[in-house]
Amino acid sequence: MKNGMFIAFEGPEGSGKSTVSRRLLDDLRRDGYDAMRTIEPGDTELGALIREILLKKDKVHLTTRAELLLFEADRAEHVEEVIKPSLHKKRIVICDRFNTATYAYQGYGLGLDMAAIRDIDDFAVQGVVPDLVIVLDVDPKTGLERAGRKRAKDRMEKRSVDFHRRVRKGYLKMAEKDPRRFRVIDSGQDIERVYEQTKAAVYEHIGYNKRPGKGC
Ligand SMILES: Nc1ncnc2c1ncn2[C@@H]1O[C@H](COP(=O)(O)OP(=O)(O)OP(=O)(O)O)[C@@H](O)[C@H]1O
Ligand SMILES: [Mg+2]
Repeated sequence: MKNGMFIAFEGPEGSGKSTVSRRLLDDLRRDGYDAMRTIEPGDTELGALIREILLKKDKVHLTTRAELLLFEADRAEHVEEVIKPSLHKKRIVICDRFNTATYAYQGYGLGLDMAAIRDIDDFAVQGVVPDLVIVLDVDPKTGLERAGRKRAKDRMEKRSVDFHRRVRKGYLKMAEKDPRRFRVIDSGQDIERVYEQTKAAVYEHIGYNKRPGKGC
């Protein structure tokens, strides 16, 4: 692996990103890979503060543009502080949501100008983009119901089902346009099948026969 490997988990609310990516991390480590898992928004000191505003403090007024910029500020810090250094150490970095989420939520969901999002996001990521994007695809009603069972609704989850339908469609459209980088997994299925299909896609990408240490 010349420069590590960057795998992003994406998909609507409650699609299983956190559950599946945590399990994948365990399996990769068990198989001897130097892997780590990180999340957006919120995995730096700055990010944790931004996450509070974005998700929890939903009484704070946020225009859609301000929302976009906060996500991108979190990402800029995250890339520089966490992701880039880890990739340089040749680690496998699993990220629970990354920039595809911004195109899906702020672009397809909220209708912000895609070209503007691209410019701002390119500036934030400095060319650090996922090698593989796993989209866990689920009907928003099912996903929101699953997420709602766990805890109180956050700012995103409070948005309409129509918003979440646009987000889902956006993910599917992006995956269709870039089949080399994207894999879509039907996460309406039983969690075991979702996990096995995800794991198969990731290991295929890594090149299962190339053992750790020999590079992948
Ligand atoms: N395929 C599945 N079938 C049934 N339940 C599932 C499935 N996948 C995940 N769940 C359950 O749904 C809930 C949400 O899963 P999880 O937190 O992994 O989703 P997420 O995509 O990370 O959600 P969020 O977008 O809120 O971060 C959890 O309680 C999880 O156990
Ligand atoms: Mg999650």
